[in-house]
Amino acid sequence: MAENVLFPATLMPNDDWWQALWPDPMDILAKIGIVSGMTVIDLCCGSGYFTAPLACLSGPEGKVIAVDLDSNMLEKARLRVEQEEEARPVAPCVWVAADACKLDQVLAANTNVDYLVIANTFHGVPDQTALSAVVARLLKPGGTFTIINWHARARTETVVLGQARGPKDEMRMSPASVEAVVTVAGFTFVQTIELPPYHYAAVLQVA
Ligand SMILES: C[S@@+](CC[C@H](N)C(=O)[O-])C[C@H]1O[C@@H](n2cnc3c(N)ncnc32)[C@H](O)[C@@H]1O
Repeated sequence: MAENVLFPATLMPNDDWWQALWPDPMDILAKIGIVSGMTVIDLCCGSGYFTAPLACLSGPEGKVIAVDLDSNMLEKARLRVEQEEEARPVAPCVWVAADACKLDQVLAANTNVDYLVIANTFHGVPDQTALSAVVARLLKPGGTFTIINWHARARTETVVLGQARGPKDEMRMSPASVEAVVTVAGFTFVQTIELPPYHYAAVLQVA
C-alpha cells in the first residue's frame, strides 16, 4: 500500500498573516452555507483556524469531523475548539489523523456527511480527481463539496502584511480548472463564491 504523504506546498501558515488575511473566518463559513445541525468534514484542517468556527456554526445539533495527516495540527485544532467552547456551545468534534486520499477507508460508510470543506490545500493535491472521488463516497446524496482556493493571480499580487503569500503561480487554479477536475468524479458545479481579497470558494454537489 502507498505511504501517507503530505501534499506539496500545504504547510500551515503562521497565525499572524493568516489572521490578517482571514479576519472573520465565521463569516467565510456562513457565506459558503454552513448552518446549524450539519455534519461537516474539515478536510486538511491544519491548526483549526476554520475548525473552531465550523464547530460554532454547526452547533450542538451538528458534528464536525476534522482530518489532518499531522497529529500535532489536530491537537492544536482540538485546543482551539476547546477554547471556543468556553464562550459558546459547539458541535461535538471527532479528530481523525489520516491521509485525505484514504479517508473513505477510515470513516464508516454511513457517517451521513452533509458538507465537506477543504481550504487552502487542494492546489497541492497530486491527483485531484481521485481525491474528489473519495469525497463523493463520503458525502450523503446531494451533499456539498466546497474547495476554498487562492485565485489564479500572480503570487507577487497576493500580498499580506507586506509579503507575497500563497502557492506559487503554477500551482494556482481558476474556478474553471477546479470544475474540470472535480465534475469527472461525479459532482455538479453549483457556484463560485468570491472571498476577497484573494480567494474563492468553488461549491459542488454530489449526485
Ligand atoms: C495549508 S494548511 C491549511 C489548513 C486549514 N485548512 C486552513 O485553511 O487554515 C494544509 C494542511 O493539510 C494537511 N495535509 C497535507 N497533506 C495531507 C494529506 N495527504 N492528508 C491529510 N492532511 C494533509 C497539512 O498537514 C496541513 O495542516
